[in-house]
Amino acid sequence: MMGVFIASDHAGVGAKKILLQHLQKWGHKPIDLGPGTEERIDYPLKAQELISQMTVDPNCCGILICGTGIGMSMAANRYRGIRAALCTTAEQAKMAKGHNDSNVLCLGARVTSEEEIVEIVKAWIETPFEGGRHTHRLSLFTNLGSEP
Ligand code: RB5
Repeated sequence: MMGVFIASDHAGVGAKKILLQHLQKWGHKPIDLGPGTEERIDYPLKAQELISQMTVDPNCCGILICGTGIGMSMAANRYRGIRAALCTTAEQAKMAKGHNDSNVLCLGARVTSEEEIVEIVKAWIETPFEGGRHTHRLSLFTNLGSEP
């Protein structure tokens, strides 16, 4: 079972709590990086904390939750080797893993219902990367950088 790190800003605390229960129920051992309260916390700091934990285990994955999921995905994708996908449906989550081998899932607790969030995470966790032609496409990421 791969390690699952999970973190949020203040907007995602409630959704994170529910996801922790589901992840445990599904047999995972999620590592909660907080926060534990709804006191304001800036999402780039939590994204940074989660990515730094992820570098310890190359086979782990991460879940980041903020109000829209947009800020978290922008922040997470600044890091080399991180393929963060903001998903609003279970179908997107399947593709984000199957085709894009995303290692971070970003969710918007203010724009996606709790039921949908649970479905999205289930689909993402259960879907394997398809490999094949997608491996080559992902390898092209290596050459993408500061110049066009
Ligand atoms: C916090 O108010 C909100 O800006 C944040 O949760 C997130 O939606 C940013 O993308």
